Amino acid sequence: MAKLAINGGTPVRTSPWPKWPEVDESDVQAVSEVIRSGRWGRLGGTKSAEFEQKFAAYQGCQYGLTVSSGTAALEIALRAMKLAPGDEVIVPPYTFMATATAVLQVGALPIFVDINPRTYNLDPALIEDAITDRTRAIIPVHFGGLPCDMDPIMAIARRHGLKVLEDCSHAHGGQWKDKGLGSIGDAGAFSLMSGKNLATGEAGIITTNDPELLGWSVLYHDFWRGAVRAGSVESELPQGWTTRFPVLAGNDRTNEIEAALLLSQFAKLEDQARRRSRNGDYLNRLVAQIEGVRPLRTDPYVTRNVYHILTLQYTGEGFGGLSREKFSQALNAEGIPNSLGYLKTVYQHPVFREAETALPGGFPVKGGYYGREIDYNQVHCPEAERLCHEETLWFGQSMFLGPQSDMDDVAEAIQKIRANARELR
Ligand SMILES: Cc1ncc(COP(=O)(O)O)c(C=O)c1O
Repeated sequence: MAKLAINGGTPVRTSPWPKWPEVDESDVQAVSEVIRSGRWGRLGGTKSAEFEQKFAAYQGCQYGLTVSSGTAALEIALRAMKLAPGDEVIVPPYTFMATATAVLQVGALPIFVDINPRTYNLDPALIEDAITDRTRAIIPVHFGGLPCDMDPIMAIARRHGLKVLEDCSHAHGGQWKDKGLGSIGDAGAFSLMSGKNLATGEAGIITTNDPELLGWSVLYHDFWRGAVRAGSVESELPQGWTTRFPVLAGNDRTNEIEAALLLSQFAKLEDQARRRSRNGDYLNRLVAQIEGVRPLRTDPYVTRNVYHILTLQYTGEGFGGLSREKFSQALNAEGIPNSLGYLKTVYQHPVFREAETALPGGFPVKGGYYGREIDYNQVHCPEAERLCHEETLWFGQSMFLGPQSDMDDVAEAIQKIRANARELR
């Protein structure tokens, strides 16, 4: 008789996992109120500004600016840092595409630096070798919610006069040495799309303590059409339109309906962040005791991992040669949702590999803008490639919102597969 659920046995878990997003009457009321008020857009509204102020303070920042997406937050922050064609920006290869394509969008070149194999975050020891006289910025990604090793990153940035833009899209409520993520570098960029730890339909937010960077971000996010901090810059403008449109910009304003939902969801964030953090830490402790799988390393500077993604390293010892793919399928069958995560590094996708056709005229990769061309087919980050190919397993943030016993189910299912791996060979 088969024991494993993938072979027809009884799954370890049949009860449902927590749903995401967590919606209650307060969300419905907040949105209805805006709809009834007729003040739907940011211009003339108050909700976007209120959310910015609350969320920025929560992350330890003075200023926030909501924009249309996390991707827009990265792009606008890079423009506000005065990145220009020909500049270079250091990015990790194991992240969502937007971290690197935001750099291309401002005409600059992403330079990939490998990750540390035990944290999956940018390896500070490799950064300096990648710095040239064109390097202007570093984008550390707090991947999955696990804070990056910011001390050496900030020290390198200071030594070379580089800006630091933290990609915090997985890290709402996360803390490094008790400081909010997004408050350590020059700016933070958060995604607020539906799957993120704090979500509305689609949006993002830039956080910063630098008023000048905020000012430029405001300009680049909507032509300075009036969404400047209510009552300050706006009221100093002369009447009429003559002094507007000082920079080439787009329109990435958020609307008041999204902002109202963000405010009501934000009221739940700290409680959710605590639950995710407690359960994720607990699961990591359980996993550390099972041979063949292991948690990422938690360094002392990590004061709060908020587990947007909990990543397991599957090494397979004691699983009788079971492949990662088969292990993942068997775990899903046991009622434990998981995925293999990214199967390729960012630079292995066509936008980089076939830059000549995927980017308009190959710009900025081809054409030697300011003298430098880069062939991403030659880029090789061995650790990131290896883990995409053979090692990772992802568990998503909503799994960590329930009781601690849910984590016991995960560990029990892993143990069960390990004990019965023979069935799958
Ligand atoms: C690490 C990272 N950066 C940036 C983004 C882009 O955010 P958005 O989808 O809101 O544009 C994402 C979103 O998936 C992400 O995971």
